[in-house]
Amino acid sequence: MAKLIGDIKNNTAVFISGKGTNLKNLINFSKKKYSPITIKLVISDKINAEGKKYAIINNIKFNFINFENNKNEEKLLDLLQKNKITLICLAGFMKILSKNFITKFRGKVINIHPSLLPKFKGLNTFKRAIKNKEKYTGSTVHYVSKKLDSGKIILQQKVKIYKYDNEKSLSKKVKRIEHILYPKAILKIYN
Ligand code: GRF
Repeated sequence: MAKLIGDIKNNTAVFISGKGTNLKNLINFSKKKYSPITIKLVISDKINAEGKKYAIINNIKFNFINFENNKNEEKLLDLLQKNKITLICLAGFMKILSKNFITKFRGKVINIHPSLLPKFKGLNTFKRAIKNKEKYTGSTVHYVSKKLDSGKIILQQKVKIYKYDNEKSLSKKVKRIEHILYPKAILKIYN
């Protein structure tokens, strides 16, 4: 990936579906002088995603894309190219991107997943970790490949699971570390 040269930052798009706490955190990170990214677009498959407010407050273009219609993917590719996007950060984005899309943006799409990959790909990761009596859970930032949650790992961090933990407490603890991990992973990519 391109390194940060002078003050030129990498044009980034963040894809969300829900709350957007990672989006909020990435926006704050992008404003730091040492950050290698600038967030140009927020894309969502949900017209009223809770995280939309962070795009609005920060004057970042928010685009709803209906992923049910295949033609819209071409429009999305166009939009990303027009905005010279060189990094796509998935942050709680619940749609699976097509193989064609991944090929066109190969090596430029990253995701944050709430488990210690390769364990617990897919949904309900905390429920499954508790059921499996795992000692640890955590979060992983990885490249997005054509196979779900299977791309090369960039960084991951563990969180201990205690007897009293439940899905809610784990989600809270993991979100807290995600807000440190995602920026760290981006810095790792560009350094
Ligand atoms: C995060 O926990 C991330 O690991 C998962 O979805 C959640 C998104 O949270 N992929 P938020 O919308 O950023 O608050």
